[in-house]
Amino acid sequence: MNYIFETPIDTARAVATIILQSAKSKVELSLPFNIALSGGSTPKQLFTIMVSEFSDSIPWHCVRVFWVDERCVSATDTESNYGMTYENLLVKVPIPKSNIFRIRGENSPDVETKRYQRLLENELPSSNGFPQFDLVLLGMGDDGHTASIFPNNKGLIHPEESVAVAEHPTSGQKRITLTGSTIEQANHVIFLITGNSKANVLREIIHGELNCENYPAFHFINNNKTVDLYLDKCAASQI
Ligand code: 6PG
Repeated sequence: MNYIFETPIDTARAVATIILQSAKSKVELSLPFNIALSGGSTPKQLFTIMVSEFSDSIPWHCVRVFWVDERCVSATDTESNYGMTYENLLVKVPIPKSNIFRIRGENSPDVETKRYQRLLENELPSSNGFPQFDLVLLGMGDDGHTASIFPNNKGLIHPEESVAVAEHPTSGQKRITLTGSTIEQANHVIFLITGNSKANVLREIIHGELNCENYPAFHFINNNKTVDLYLDKCAASQI
């Protein structure tokens, strides 16, 4: 389903509401709520809303935070997805430190990929042989990438591995990412996409235009019944 909102803040608020409702439903089952977060700039607004309007109602003791991907940098590097999440969310809410499972970007990529893969196997239920999250929050780059699955590396969409090393196509920066095989096993996937810069690619993907399969995000948005898009008016302006 596509949900379209007037502003990025309204869009973020709607996603925060889903996170609250999903976490509460797991608490009622006395189960943890396992969420994987993406990096980039869009989630910052979500985190701001979660702190300012939802901090007292989200059952943080049962929320376990993982990452969709991480840049291979230290946690204090300005590029770090964990660092961004820590500054904008984790340090401002009462989530137990034991509920935070960061990808260690400072480690050797191959070593950390195997460590994170084992961690997910130990910490999460399994579905079709892959770790299963309750919710995976994805963004989309204006080149149609999602997670750290870039157009030049579509082999990460349905591989045998659950976690893999990726490389940014222009900067060459190494990244560690969930593969599409893991993302697709999630109970729920939410794309949070805002801004005019995403409108063209989103139209091509939603309308199945020529070459849309070159965009990794296409393979999740159109091929999966557990995927919802939360869009602001600008990002949705051409669909
Ligand atoms: C990352 C993210 C990436 C992000 C998109 C959108 O590590 O950068 O996981 O997949 O979601 O690049 O980024 P923006 O939210 O900054 O547009």
